[in-house]
Formats: sequence, C-alpha cells, structure tokens
Amino acid sequence: MSEIASKVTRLLEAIETADDAASLEQYRLGALGRKGLVTLALKSLGGIPAEERREIGQTINQHKAALQAALEQKHAVLHAQERDAQMAHEALDVSLPAQSTPMGMLHPISQIIDEVSAIFATMGFAIAEGPDIESDALNFTALNFPHDHPAREMHDTFYMANSPEDQLMVLRTHTSPVQVRALRAEGAPIRVIAPGRTYRSDHDMTHSPMFHQIEGLVIDEETHFAHLKGCLSDFCRAFFELNDVPLRFRPSFFPFTEPSAEVDIGCSHDRGCLIIGARADWMEILGCGMVHPNVIKSGGLDPERYQGFAFGLGIERLAMLKYGMPDLRLFFDGDPHWTRHYGFAPLEFPTLSRGLRP
Ligand code: DAH
Repeated sequence: MSEIASKVTRLLEAIETADDAASLEQYRLGALGRKGLVTLALKSLGGIPAEERREIGQTINQHKAALQAALEQKHAVLHAQERDAQMAHEALDVSLPAQSTPMGMLHPISQIIDEVSAIFATMGFAIAEGPDIESDALNFTALNFPHDHPAREMHDTFYMANSPEDQLMVLRTHTSPVQVRALRAEGAPIRVIAPGRTYRSDHDMTHSPMFHQIEGLVIDEETHFAHLKGCLSDFCRAFFELNDVPLRFRPSFFPFTEPSAEVDIGCSHDRGCLIIGARADWMEILGCGMVHPNVIKSGGLDPERYQGFAFGLGIERLAMLKYGMPDLRLFFDGDPHWTRHYGFAPLEFPTLSRGLRP
C-alpha cells in the first residue's frame, strides 16, 4: 500500500503543477479513469483477505477523495485563469476617442434628402415612394402627356424591355409618377413628398444620366396657388437658413400642372462666389403648379371636388447651391476624398429645432 501512497503523492504534485486543462484531464484519467490508479486499486480489493480489506478499502477511498478534491480545486483555478486571459484579450477601452475607428460619411445627396424631409415633415408631409422602373403609362400618359407630344421627347427617356403584362416600361424620367401612385393608394386629402432616383439620357457638367428629385403633392378640397407660394417660400427660408429669400414665380409649362410656374431664387455673383438671398440676379430652383384635373382623374379622384398643388426639386441642384459644389459629375465618381470633403457626419439626423447641419 505504501506503493500506492507514493503514486498518489506524485499524482497530487502533478495535479498541483498542471498548467492547462488538457494535462489536468490526463491526470484525472490516471487517477480516476477506467484504468486509473484508484479504480485498479479498488478492483484489486477482491483478492485481499477479508480482515485487511476494510482498512485498505478505507485508505483507498481517502486517496480517492484527496485526488478528487485536488482535481476540482485545480480545475477551478485553471478555469479562472482562462477567463481572465480571455477578458484581457477582449478588453475594450471605452474611454478611447471614437475617431480612432475609420468613419464613413453621408453623401450630400442623402444629407439633402434628410434636410428636405425634416422641413416638410414639420409641415405635415409624409414620404411616398415609387419604383425606378416605371410604366410609360404612369411616367407620361397618366400625367397628361399626350401621345407624340414634344414634352415626351424633352425627357430623353431610357426605354426598358416591356413588362410581363406587355406594358411599355421606362426608367422614370422624374418623380412625378409617384403623384398618381400616391393618389391611387391614399386618396385625398393627401400631403406627401417623394424623394428618389430619376434617369435621363444626358451627360455633361450639369447633367448626369442618373440624378435625384423630390416631388411634392398636396391635394384636398380648398388648396390654392397662395398655399403653394407660402409652402415653397417657407421651405426655401428653412432650407437656405435665411430669414428672407426673394422668390420669383415665372409662368412656365408642364403637362401635369395648370397653371405652371418655375421658381427662381434671388442671388448674386461676386467674383465667382454665388450668394443666395441677394437681389441682383435670379436662379431657377424648381418647377411647380396647380395639379391638372386630368392628373387628379388619373389618381382616381373627382377633379370637380379636389384640387391642389405639386412641385419638383432637383436634389443635386439644391446641394450644389447650398454647399458650393461646382461639378455635378463628381457626385457619382465614388471618390473617397470628395466624400470626405463634401460629406456629412452620419447618425446626426437634421432637425429644424437643432439646426439642419450637424
Ligand atoms: N417633373 C418635372 C421635371 O422633371 C418637375 C416638376 C415640375 C414637378 C412641376 C412637379 C411640378 O410636380 O408641378 O422636370
């Protein structure tokens, strides 16, 4: 039995110095496993004379208990060490400045959409949407563009393959078809803006084949042209962050509005610098008008009962005017230097109360 005692002593020492879970498991098997020291010793009890068996049995059980206790204790120690090492490895210093991680920037197009949405939201406008691939019927016909009318050609349309229902499809040339979609979906009274991508086959310093517009639509029983003027002048003052913005409503033509107007904003040019809000010069910023009765009919409403106004803004143009960007083509080059220079801090949604710009 002294032989087993010295083996146990050696095992206890080994357990004490084990430095990882795998070697501890080897020692556990050596002590308590199927062919382990204790198991074999207990098995050998059968061949021992009955008088000695009790005492030897007790001794073996004491060894067993001592080994179990040592294994459990060491297991707890190793487990705690492992957890400490993992925590140290995964530690995150929350007091480090956040700028240490590379930060993305909001594209000016997204910023302008957020700013314009914030302004119209305070006036009670909801957001409406429509698809980029639109039917010719909604892009033109429902908006009172007669067939073969020259206004269709002015839109430099990209034509697509016909739809499965054999409808003629286009990449929408403006956001105006959302007017008809929103009227059909919601009826009246309605007050919505619809920001989105639009497409025309045109490419130079001031035109991109893909660009962005924001459509506006207000329909109820009483809205008239003075509401249109008030709404757009409130918008311009909020957007350009000026108390007084001179606006000029110039008669124009759009098939889907009657009367129609283009709105110019007062400005001046001083040594290559554009100053918004001055009165020396005029610059066109949007199209608008009272919604044509035929469009109200396309939307499923009675034009004898309902009336209202619509407007369309070019987002790139607003961005260029407000943030002084000279070349439209750079908007879509995906150059990170440009985005870092002209982009906006993310996660700072513009509000009128806090200021539009982050
Ligand atoms: N859809 C016009 C365009 O792309 C812009 C426009 C003008 C929209 C007048 C309107 C509007 O809603 O009333 O040129």
